[in-house]
Amino acid sequence: MSQARAKVDMEKIVSLCRRRGFIFPSSEIYGGLSSCWDYGPLGVELKRNIKQAWWQTVVQEHDDMVGLDTSILMHPEVWKASGHLEGFSDSLVECKSCHLRWRADELEGDKCLSCGGELTEPRQFNLMFKTFMGPVEEEANTVYLRPETAQGMFVNFANVLDTTRKRLPFGIAQIGKAFRNEITTGNFIFRSREFEQMEIEFFVKPGTDKEWFDYWLKERLNWYIKLGIRSENLRLRQHTERELAHYARDCYDIDYLFPMGWAELEGIANRGDFDLVQHSRFSGKNLTYFDEETKEHITPYIIEPSAGVDRAALAFLCDAYDEEPDKDEIRVLLRLHPQLAPVKVAVLPLSRREKLVRVAKEIYSDLRQCFMAYYDDAQSIGRRYRRQDEIGTPLCITIDFQSLEDNEVTIRERDTMNQIRVPITELRATVAAKLGGESFATQSLWSAK
Ligand code: GAP
Repeated sequence: MSQARAKVDMEKIVSLCRRRGFIFPSSEIYGGLSSCWDYGPLGVELKRNIKQAWWQTVVQEHDDMVGLDTSILMHPEVWKASGHLEGFSDSLVECKSCHLRWRADELEGDKCLSCGGELTEPRQFNLMFKTFMGPVEEEANTVYLRPETAQGMFVNFANVLDTTRKRLPFGIAQIGKAFRNEITTGNFIFRSREFEQMEIEFFVKPGTDKEWFDYWLKERLNWYIKLGIRSENLRLRQHTERELAHYARDCYDIDYLFPMGWAELEGIANRGDFDLVQHSRFSGKNLTYFDEETKEHITPYIIEPSAGVDRAALAFLCDAYDEEPDKDEIRVLLRLHPQLAPVKVAVLPLSRREKLVRVAKEIYSDLRQCFMAYYDDAQSIGRRYRRQDEIGTPLCITIDFQSLEDNEVTIRERDTMNQIRVPITELRATVAAKLGGESFATQSLWSAK
């Protein structure tokens, strides 16, 4: 069930994230570090929930998928084989007056966008961060911070095959940090220099690749919809011949309608046999697969759904943001899917009277064993509800004086603001059912998706 919601601008998201402790500029007390971000107490929960939801869907609930966690620093030959050393670059021009640098493909005219000055001829700028391995800073010791997690999975293809005895088709999944010295950054966490990816490399028999490509397109699109993103804010966009990366036979972006317009959330590529052929050539190792049916050695094709954790977080936040009139005020809320909400349930005694606090704390310490819970007894109950709405907490539990008599408490639902009374003995089960989708209203937002 999709609802008409307020159109959100980026400033509101940035301000909410800063104010409520989702996301801070990196090294803020030193003035920040361009395009690097720190996830605060709520942001880290949101991010963990996104990664957990992804892992559950693509590894835990999926046949023939295994996980990996490979190192960020890799042998420098990897980047020769992958094409990153030669080709992972942007064409860059520099203003001769103010020395600002611009991506050539983003300029419409031939003048500096900042001061109108004359520009230099374009030159290639590699996006990989360089560093040195060991104590001597010399060219021979150069290593790179990985610009994608994918290569760690390609170079472990034979290890996974040998140790898990997987048969085609099968996939490897990995979540981890990637680094790109992006020239153009901005739009908050949309494009940063340090970010996290959630990538799948799915190995298939050549000839079945188109079928698997279509399968993963649908799977990945549905994942966002199931977790609450409205389908009208998502689209699939096929890359043109000119846009296709050197390794790709076909590629679609899953685009999201961000406040600044449609932009890539995830890319799904048919990489053919490019990666295994290249790594086999550069390493001298056999990276083929023995097909029992045809008794032939083949090089599998790879379908790669590659998502960004930070972009997903931004899309979930933008899509969940809502404002609605509430008496003389505006209620700001995040309609986050319960699986993604940083706090699942808030425990709120009506007042700080000792008897109420004692019961509330008992309930809190019981619930927090199962759910990310939050205890709050400061300020009026109305303000406490609003605080929880604004960070997307699906359920609030209120303990009032009646609770001391009948051992029942009130559960309030974020989206509908409906309330029911529940015996304290049934709280855990009721909260679990509500978070799983059961609602007091005829239909809740998340149960309908
Ligand atoms: N292995 C393929 C690959 O890395 P990509 O399209 O360059 O493909 C995949 O990146 C995803 O990683 C993107 O769809 C995006 O979500 C995320 N991503 C890429 N660059 C990013 C950046 N500078 N900041 C944040 N996320 C980024």
